[in-house]
Amino acid sequence: MSTWTKKDLVGLDALTAAEIIHLLDTAKAFKGVGERNLKKVPALRGKTLVNFFVEPSTRTRTSFEIAAMRLSADVVNISATASSLQKGETLKDTALNLQALRADIIVLRHSSPGSSQFLSERLESSIINAGDGAHEHPTQGLLDIFTIRERFGRIEGLNIAIIGDILFSRVARSNIFGLLKLGANVTLVGPSTLVPKRFEQLGVQVRHRIDDILETADVVNLLRIQHERQRKEYFPGLGEYVSLFGLTKPRAARLAPHCLIMHPGPINRGVEIDSDVADSTQSVILEQVTNGIAVRMAVLYSCAGGAHIPA
Ligand code: CP
Repeated sequence: MSTWTKKDLVGLDALTAAEIIHLLDTAKAFKGVGERNLKKVPALRGKTLVNFFVEPSTRTRTSFEIAAMRLSADVVNISATASSLQKGETLKDTALNLQALRADIIVLRHSSPGSSQFLSERLESSIINAGDGAHEHPTQGLLDIFTIRERFGRIEGLNIAIIGDILFSRVARSNIFGLLKLGANVTLVGPSTLVPKRFEQLGVQVRHRIDDILETADVVNLLRIQHERQRKEYFPGLGEYVSLFGLTKPRAARLAPHCLIMHPGPINRGVEIDSDVADSTQSVILEQVTNGIAVRMAVLYSCAGGAHIPA
């Protein structure tokens, strides 16, 4: 019997380990579809997905669109500037209108934490959180975990360092919730202003020196500075940030040969990660992007009640 009974995906905090494993295993089944000549299955034929992005996106919006098309769903893309939010309509009214247009699935990216939860409690359409402020980005967390699990065959016991601006990162939160549920040892690394000690209450370790984790990490996941959500200066300057926390070439040379270098994108070359390191053989940054399609197929299929999983 399937462990998945939910119509929405709001965050990984709300999922059990079994539900996360269900989505990862379903993604594994769907990954093969993207490797065929005919990259399409009829699992969501007749369903309509609305990609509603009120904040900018390259990877997530395109990845959801491709995932939906591979499942044979019909896709409509709308952005904030092209929606009646510009004319003063509320998010709830806009979403109710999308539901009245018979959208089966609404994929929402919004700057307000809790916006996906808010809609999930008020709509019958499936609501998929594509990033809500600094709260969660569950499909990014899942695709990061999928990539790690595919490479190592497990999550339990791995030493995973998430480095950078944790305070404002929805990606960090979704990774932390998912990785801890699956038994990883998670260490957060960054300046004390962006990685406060109180995060240890989640069950992670906090370090303020990148040099403390380099030799022991199985995975380093670099995060960019989220300037768009910061309202004051959290460190003296980018130069100092690079010298203290950037994954430079000398630091990357200290990583174990098996250590994966990850980044959710968009990357700021020369800031959180050296350009050569981002393009190195240990980097799986583009593999993460590819895996995002299979993960999003699994999420759409699971939440919208797809017809069958392809053999
Ligand atoms: N990782 C991520 O969310 O990228 P986009 O902002 O381009 O969607």
